[in-house]
Amino acid sequence: MKQIIAIYPGSFDPVTNGHLDLINRGSKLFDRLIVAVARNPEKDMSFFTLEERVAMLQAMTAELENVSVDAFEGLLMNYCTAKKANAVLRGIRAVSDYEFELQMALMNRKMEPTVETVFMMPAEKYSYLSSRIVREIAMFGGPLTGLVPDLVEEQLRRKVAEKHAAVANPTK
Ligand code: PNS
Repeated sequence: MKQIIAIYPGSFDPVTNGHLDLINRGSKLFDRLIVAVARNPEKDMSFFTLEERVAMLQAMTAELENVSVDAFEGLLMNYCTAKKANAVLRGIRAVSDYEFELQMALMNRKMEPTVETVFMMPAEKYSYLSSRIVREIAMFGGPLTGLVPDLVEEQLRRKVAEKHAAVANPTK
């Protein structure tokens, strides 16, 4: 039978419990799931470095045998071809996600018709969760319990302390 290799692409800046919920669901559906962290062309825009984002995902998915973590640059469809992937996994939380996701899925299909985009919904309790909101809460020292794994919370606190220190001592 044909093996389904799926790519779950994203910024994962940082990985949240919503992403991990989707990875768990995807790992049950696909033969192989590659979590692919996108290198931001405007590097300084990311909160965490690519290496940090990959390392956090690797730590959080280590026990899932058919899941691997990788980084990619450039067009997602070129990466799918290189990995012989036949599916892309994306999460949809609310209707507001749909328009952008539809545009991306259709454009990707135009570029590479053999790759299907599969949408999955995370658990309802994560429907309001995003990496952006998590970063903002962390920047203001708010509670992150239940939003990200402990390891990611530690990394966020460390990063925020570094950023605050850099603002306080701009010459260092
Ligand atoms: O987590 P995000 O930021 O929603 O992920 C967006 C991502 C990385 C999946 C998307 O920007 C992407 O696929 N980038 C790679 C470049 C590409 O293929 N662009 C054309 C998409 S139609």
